[in-house]
Amino acid sequence: MATCCCGGASITKDDPRFVELDAFIATCLEQPGSLISVLHKAQELFGFLPEEVQEHIAVNLGIPKTDVYGVVTFYNFFNTDPVGQYTISVCMGTACYVRGAGRLLTQLETELNIKAGNVTEDGLFSLEVCRCVGACSLAPAVVVDGEVRGKLVEGDIKPLLDELRAQAGVPTRELVLR
Ligand code: FES
Repeated sequence: MATCCCGGASITKDDPRFVELDAFIATCLEQPGSLISVLHKAQELFGFLPEEVQEHIAVNLGIPKTDVYGVVTFYNFFNTDPVGQYTISVCMGTACYVRGAGRLLTQLETELNIKAGNVTEDGLFSLEVCRCVGACSLAPAVVVDGEVRGKLVEGDIKPLLDELRAQAGVPTRELVLR
């Protein structure tokens, strides 16, 4: 059983998201190259592409499971593991590293209570490290869902997380602790 990004629930065959996925598959059965579109739709619905979802797609498109797996693992925008609602990537390229990216990463790991490569327990944040994102003049840089936040210092991390929590409608830690 796969674990979803929202706190440990499993994806079962009667998950209503499969109904929506099947409706989408039905619209593009005749189209060449529909696998990529179907995978995008599935990732939009489930947040990631676990084995159960890949198998479902293979059966419904009438193609081998290995074809689906091959495409999923070829493109890095498809995730086979759960991801958080927000993905925070710390650039560890040379310019960012020498300007303190390591300290930002440590601060994020402490604040989120996870190591890079993991998802917070509430499913809100994925924390990753990446190579140069082409914004060296803004080093050290952190990318939040594709948006570069530059020239950060450790003190910027907590406000950044609070901003994202507020965006997601989650109370900040101060409010929870009060
Ligand atoms: S090294 Fe971080 S943006 Fe280039």
